[in-house]
Amino acid sequence: RRWASSLPQLESVDRSDEESGGEIDWDNLGFGLTPTDYMYVMRCSVEDGAFSRGELSRYGNIELSPSSGVLNYGQGLFEGMKAYRRVGRAGYTLFRPEENARRMQHGAERMCMPAPSLDQFVDAVKQTVLANGRWVPPQGKGALYIRPLLIGSGAILGLAPAPEYTFLVYAAPVGNYFKEGLAPINLVVEDGVHRAMPGGTGGVKTITNYAPVRTSSSPLAVSNSNHTTPVDLPHLQFQSTVLDLCVQVIKAQMDAKSKGFTDVLYLDAVHKRYLEEVSSCNVFVVKGRVIATPATRGTILPGITRKSVIELAADRGYKVEERPVTVDDLIDADEVFCTGTAVVVAPVATVTVEGQRYSFRTGPDTVSQELYTTLTSIQMGLAEDSKGWTVAV
Ligand code: COI
Repeated sequence: RRWASSLPQLESVDRSDEESGGEIDWDNLGFGLTPTDYMYVMRCSVEDGAFSRGELSRYGNIELSPSSGVLNYGQGLFEGMKAYRRVGRAGYTLFRPEENARRMQHGAERMCMPAPSLDQFVDAVKQTVLANGRWVPPQGKGALYIRPLLIGSGAILGLAPAPEYTFLVYAAPVGNYFKEGLAPINLVVEDGVHRAMPGGTGGVKTITNYAPVRTSSSPLAVSNSNHTTPVDLPHLQFQSTVLDLCVQVIKAQMDAKSKGFTDVLYLDAVHKRYLEEVSSCNVFVVKGRVIATPATRGTILPGITRKSVIELAADRGYKVEERPVTVDDLIDADEVFCTGTAVVVAPVATVTVEGQRYSFRTGPDTVSQELYTTLTSIQMGLAEDSKGWTVAV
């Protein structure tokens, strides 16, 4: 291996209050940003050609040139992962971390960036989890959300790949993604604004896919369920770029939220009749024992939860179809649900299409409930992991 595990570095990490869990109200976590103790940083210049040894540092702001590739041209990727406390023993569980590492490598190729190796990625994630152990919520209260970032941090004025890259991993304790908690959500189909186009970057997790569909109601503050935090956190270094990108398209999102919808369901940009995905997650429709989800053909993010749910559903005897899914399929469905790392498996109560509201089955005996329980039991260590998807930290 080019880069040996640097876990011994953790000896220098202050873990004195490991079990205290800080001042946090574990029962009301939501998906707000709670700053944690440590982040992992690793750099790579174009001359080096590959990432070398990284290290943990105190969580805090990072310095970036105003001309950095990420700020000027959006050269950046991110990942989302979760760590749960292990049931009945010490330590934490990650879910399919190598899948995230592979997806970052694939995205990096598309975005002309060098990427960490699988070992480097997974090791960095493990170190970040261990160093922030006191922030992993108690069992049943949520998870430690892990955010690996790969950014063009080097300065560049003309449009070209940046001369230096930074791989950074930070983490925050989270509960449910949507304000509805585990309750079913309400979507609206958006046909005038599109998330991705053929030949674009919809199929990779570039940061620029998300600015246009951002759901926060206030771009100038970061809130968790209890309080609003001043704008003094690392990710807001990117705020000016995000704001620029948001201006044209955020109106649809804001309109949707002001009308009481949870989120927006996007259609394909060419025919405007095929489902793509929701701002932060993939979408599934259920009819009888058949579950359909839009095929990933470059405009849809290949979600790791999506892939896992497809496999679990097939194991449970459902016929799973990855194909173009039309608005008519949606209207005709018994059930609709969304999947994602942050979202997990979220049942959809209603979808509004051209002003008409369609309702779907929700509740205890639904397919989404069955898949939610099956998936989270594996992720939380409550059921045997016969697939080898979980990784102990
Ligand atoms: C995730 O589910 O981890 C994502 O990356 C979506 C993000 C908008 C929270």
